[in-house]
Amino acid sequence: MRYVLDRAAYCDAGVIAENRLPARSYFIPYPDRAEAVPAARRRYESPLVRCLSGEWDFRFYPRPAELPDVLDTETVAWDRVAVPGCWQFQGYDRPFYVDERYQFPFDPPRIPEEGPVGPVFSLIGGEGGRPHVAHPVGEYNFAGVYRRTFDLDEREASVGHVISFLGVASCLDLYLNGRHVGYAEGSHNTAEFDIAPCQRAGTNELVAVVRRWCTGSYLECQDMFRNNGIFRDVLLREVTPSGIWDVGVRTRREERASRVRYHMAVDLRLVAESTVRVTLLGHGLERVAEAHADGCRATVDLGELDVLEWTAETPHLYDLILETPTECVRERVGFREARVDGRRFLVNGRPVKLHGVNHHDTSPTAGYAMTPAEIERDVLLCKSHNIDTIRTSHYPPDPYLLELCDELGVYVIDEADLETHGALVGKFPARQNRLTNDARWEARYLDRAERLVERDKLRTCVIMWSLGNEAGGGCNADAMYGLVRSRSSLPVHYEGAIHSLRRAYDVGSEMYSTVERVRSVGEGRSTTRRLNDRPYLLCEYAHAMGVGPGGIEDYWRQIYAFDSLMGGCVWEMADHAVLHPDGRYTYGGDHGEWEHDGNFCVDGILYPDRTPSTGARVVRHCYRPLRVRHLGGDFFMVHNATSFTSGEAFSLRFEWNDGGVAELSCDVAPLRQQSYLVRPTSSVARELGEGLRRDRSRRVTVTVRRRDTGEEVSREQIRLSEMAPLGDVLLARDAAFPEGCEVTGEGLAVAGVMAPAATPVLLCRAETDNDRYLSGGRPMERFYDCRREVLSVVEGEGTAVVTSRLVFPHHRFVCEDTYEAVAAGVLVTSRLHCERGRGDLPRFGVCYRLDASWDKVEYLGRNGESYQDMCEQTQVERVSCRVADMTEPNIRPQESGNRMDCQYVIVSNGEKNVQLTAVDRPFELAVKPYSDEELRGMRHREDEARSGTYVTVQAFQMGIGSGSCGPATRPEYRFDCRRDYELRYLVSWE
Ligand code: GAL
Repeated sequence: MRYVLDRAAYCDAGVIAENRLPARSYFIPYPDRAEAVPAARRRYESPLVRCLSGEWDFRFYPRPAELPDVLDTETVAWDRVAVPGCWQFQGYDRPFYVDERYQFPFDPPRIPEEGPVGPVFSLIGGEGGRPHVAHPVGEYNFAGVYRRTFDLDEREASVGHVISFLGVASCLDLYLNGRHVGYAEGSHNTAEFDIAPCQRAGTNELVAVVRRWCTGSYLECQDMFRNNGIFRDVLLREVTPSGIWDVGVRTRREERASRVRYHMAVDLRLVAESTVRVTLLGHGLERVAEAHADGCRATVDLGELDVLEWTAETPHLYDLILETPTECVRERVGFREARVDGRRFLVNGRPVKLHGVNHHDTSPTAGYAMTPAEIERDVLLCKSHNIDTIRTSHYPPDPYLLELCDELGVYVIDEADLETHGALVGKFPARQNRLTNDARWEARYLDRAERLVERDKLRTCVIMWSLGNEAGGGCNADAMYGLVRSRSSLPVHYEGAIHSLRRAYDVGSEMYSTVERVRSVGEGRSTTRRLNDRPYLLCEYAHAMGVGPGGIEDYWRQIYAFDSLMGGCVWEMADHAVLHPDGRYTYGGDHGEWEHDGNFCVDGILYPDRTPSTGARVVRHCYRPLRVRHLGGDFFMVHNATSFTSGEAFSLRFEWNDGGVAELSCDVAPLRQQSYLVRPTSSVARELGEGLRRDRSRRVTVTVRRRDTGEEVSREQIRLSEMAPLGDVLLARDAAFPEGCEVTGEGLAVAGVMAPAATPVLLCRAETDNDRYLSGGRPMERFYDCRREVLSVVEGEGTAVVTSRLVFPHHRFVCEDTYEAVAAGVLVTSRLHCERGRGDLPRFGVCYRLDASWDKVEYLGRNGESYQDMCEQTQVERVSCRVADMTEPNIRPQESGNRMDCQYVIVSNGEKNVQLTAVDRPFELAVKPYSDEELRGMRHREDEARSGTYVTVQAFQMGIGSGSCGPATRPEYRFDCRRDYELRYLVSWE
């Protein structure tokens, strides 16, 4: 079939859509109630809806000029691709990651058409704040043509059909049976067309021309891989004579004398005049009402209702069944009210704290396309990590995500598909935005706001609308705000307002603020005054790039302390990276991108395949519903951090490490704390080990489970005593070193066991992503080049003292290592003194190398990756594992796997053991299969090659912070290099 292709709409600033149907709620219609209400419903199992996803014909045009004026589908050499899918993941073009810049020259409203993309001039990204120019070669505004057929029988061909594209990047020119149907842009918004004028009985041919960029791409400058294609499902919907076109519900909550009632009205649009019957069903309630839709519109009042309210903690839903003579829609709806009351954000009249995360629709094998199972997995992962809020950064998600959030109980901040980061001008933080301040763009901004609210207005989980991300403030954002508020009673969020004179809409919002700044807002004395009179959200915080984020708990201390602090959403849920068939992961710059932002996309608390990283464990712990504190003696304080769930919903099990167990049922009310007396009910003395393996501290571990499911929600450990020093008997002096051990200027070596690593004294660490500040600072590098000069070796009877000088470009230290023969082995005391330099010391440790056959590790210390500002998610216990279990599989290798609060470590090759034991203070431990120097040179997971066993004991290592995009490590987790430090441990072997 032949098609005259439209070559204008995608690049015509005056065109946002052609023949696109007005936005409406997303739902699936059924022919009747029997079809609509089966208990377990698959996503599109309706005789009225055909999902056209599957294999489609595809032709990629790397030179858009080669796209013919008249496309003859018979002569095209088609390939086959999966829909939904992104062509960069299907063998065309290549993945391209760039954060805040446009991929094309910033020259609004023009975008590249058929010629090569010339020099790309970006307002941001250049050195020293200057504009940045890149010179891409072979770049075009690529086009992809999709084709598939579907059959309609005589009956079907006689009734209307609507085709729905749930997501296409960047735009779509749709054709059917030789004719142009229409045009749409707005990648993450639904685009629908009436195809009745072009459809016919028999085989119908559908052709979709998708462009890499269109005018709308100026509004889609989000920090993500810039993908293209039909990446969400395509639905063919039959229109029945009295079909339901749109549904909205309006609820009003009334609380009188602590009785809550809801009034509910259902607004309907039908495709023709008809009667409609509305039933609300569930939890013992049945309410039926009917109305006649004159002129296709009807409002059905369900009157006053006594219902169970919906919250993320109690996701009670009802069936809303809408019936016309030819159609039935069953929607799961809940009753909730979200509103702002002065400085408080209330759900159903109660303050809530949002324990949130930012969620992108992203898959390592398919880009923007996620399967229903993957979406489900993400929502379940939120639930199992105590995350109760998703901000759908930075566009409306697949509608299925919202249905699941309704069902499973997750609050949603639903965001418009809008970011114009690359149009920000001025010094950081840029205030002005060329597009948001330009009224000529208003219609496009409003289009995205309207399509957000209209599509998702039925979803109970949505508690706030968000106008987009990082588009600065300006008249177009204000216009969006007006539109959204005119259609919905929900509060509106938009962080970008902070960059305008308005400073905030219904709630104040910032990203990556310091704890101090958050506190000042809580206290109502922020210098940004408009933050002082309304609730405040950290729409992004705790940048989870690489190892980290550190310091989340410090935010929550403030959030729980002030009513006005609503909580925050960690940045972000999952790493973005591309998984290749050979198991490799790649990130920005690995695909020949001519400009990119490296691994800045690898910043999730989950790895790309959704395996939780330590970040996820940190978040889960920090977001726990019950928090326990030791008050002294047998008294413990339980803080119920939920808003709607009594403490009775949980069981608490206390276990003391020296024996003793207690179960606690606590009735602490939501948002309250209460103290409890907890004494062990049974006490079986627990084996604490002997001699060097003795457990020398007292702790209690509290495991909290949901009573109904038995699911563990948190485990926290409270230290009841400091570690006791090693006994004098073990440390009694000996006159000579044991056989096989030798002390030289390099340090202590044990023949056939271990030797000092090449750099025995470690003051630096392999830079983590969070050690690289956005400002460009790279503080770790100052400690990379170390020259060690041995100043003296003084030997005595069973003693040796090695004095060395460590010289760095900006620092100089003297290190004195004393080795003493004692009853249990060799006691090592290292003392560090700074001669020159200032600032923080990354760490102070000593590293020993063993060969790779020493693979077994046993230690008593924190049972997982832990650093000064992210350790509470772990507990001190005895751990047995392999060396490979002691580091984390970061997509970009970096310092990882530290273990805090260690009393000893034993490394073994199966025959022999070597043990390092803390003497008077626990040490921090690292066991790695490679040296730190080797680690520093690694760029990808697969670079990690084993070269031995490297055991490091440290007096300390500085915290992690979230400096990759936010505040660096806080002062309380840092170590001033000008102080003197000491590290003591005992070395023994058998
Ligand atoms: C924020 C932005 C996010 C992401 C993050 C850094 O400024 O809103 O989209 O870029 O920084 O990872």
